[in-house]
Amino acid sequence: MNKFIVNKMNNPFVVYGYQSSEYFCDRKTELDKILSSLDNGRNITLLSLRRIGKTGLIKHVFDHLKQRKTARLVYMDIMPTSNLNDFVKEFSKAIMLEEKSRSAKYLQKIKNLVLGLRGKITFDQITGIPGFEIDFRPPEESVKDLAYVFQYLASQNADYIIAVDEFQQITFYPEKNTEALLRAYSQQYSDKLRFIFSGSNQTLLSSMFNYYGKPFYQSSDLMYLDTIDKKKYAEFIQQHFATAKREINYEIIDYVLDELECFTFYVQYYFNKLFGTGVKKIDKTLANKVLIDILNERESFYYNYKNIFSANQFKLLIAIAKEGKVNQPNAVNFIRTYNLGPASSLNRSLQSLLVKEMIYKKDNYYCIYDLFFKKWLARL
Ligand SMILES: Nc1ncnc2c1ncn2[C@@H]1O[C@H](COP(=O)(O)OP(=O)(O)OP(=O)(O)O)[C@@H](O)[C@H]1O
Ligand SMILES: [Mg+2]
Repeated sequence: MNKFIVNKMNNPFVVYGYQSSEYFCDRKTELDKILSSLDNGRNITLLSLRRIGKTGLIKHVFDHLKQRKTARLVYMDIMPTSNLNDFVKEFSKAIMLEEKSRSAKYLQKIKNLVLGLRGKITFDQITGIPGFEIDFRPPEESVKDLAYVFQYLASQNADYIIAVDEFQQITFYPEKNTEALLRAYSQQYSDKLRFIFSGSNQTLLSSMFNYYGKPFYQSSDLMYLDTIDKKKYAEFIQQHFATAKREINYEIIDYVLDELECFTFYVQYYFNKLFGTGVKKIDKTLANKVLIDILNERESFYYNYKNIFSANQFKLLIAIAKEGKVNQPNAVNFIRTYNLGPASSLNRSLQSLLVKEMIYKKDNYYCIYDLFFKKWLARL
């Protein structure tokens, strides 16, 4: 038998997607806050740095809502979309998935939805699983299609909670009115539809929510998702090792959480690897070795960054990594210590690295986004 399948859930530290509340650490306050917003008729927007746990939290909220059975749950990730037509496709696909999970008659339902969008139902040649096709259409048509999808939802004898993940993506659409359209529909059908918008803050916060003229300003609750509480994370980790009859003390967990700044993805990934060693009693030597192994594994990938970024950008990355965080990149001392050249080119590098999401700015400090990369750079 396939070893991978047999052992699939043996590692409690999930690194992709969401398994169940058992493998999900804390976020109780956040869960309650989101449920309260939705229950009281308000939409909510989740913002955070990348890889902190927005998608996981949405799935966790849906896991709770599923048990309540009061609303239908539609989750869509619009990262791969680049225009309104793509959005309509993702939206309808997400609706169909939900209808499929609820009703044996879903084919009839989705037939109406797909035909309304002037698309066609297709069947996978191997699995026979139904899907659908909608052709690319000019922008005016996409606007009508979007209207049709909302009418479909309104026509159903059900409430819907619609999660739109990577929401900042709509700022890249050529249809600049998408934000306004969604806001209008969310208000028009506010008795039946509730939204959870989610995105990484750099682009989203600045371009969508900060300007008074923008439709979403003050139109939904905002929630800034921070790292998981260190104490709760430590308990979660300790308990999962204990359940597997293995031992790790708080001192080591604390040390690693500090090293990884409690940053969710990196913590999950690290403990997934540490757990994967199978060692019964974890000591500090092993804890360090796992960290170094992770950096070594990624080395060739990180070396490639040297070809992607200019020499100046790479020097700046190393400088920020060695400092940990940088408040004033233009300070003479910083520039001199790391030989970063004239301030004008340094500022260009800084902007470029921000746009590429290699670095982020938090509380007026510049930091490297990828924690493992940061540690690797700091060793250079
Ligand atoms: N509360 C949690 N407990 C345990 N694991 C979590 C928790 N939240 C998220 N994770 C895990 O951490 C990783 C990153 O989380 P997630 O993908 O939800 O972040 P994100 O903020 O949506 O990232 P991105 O901005 O890249 O989409 C995932 O592997 C996820 O399974
Ligand atoms: Mg996500």
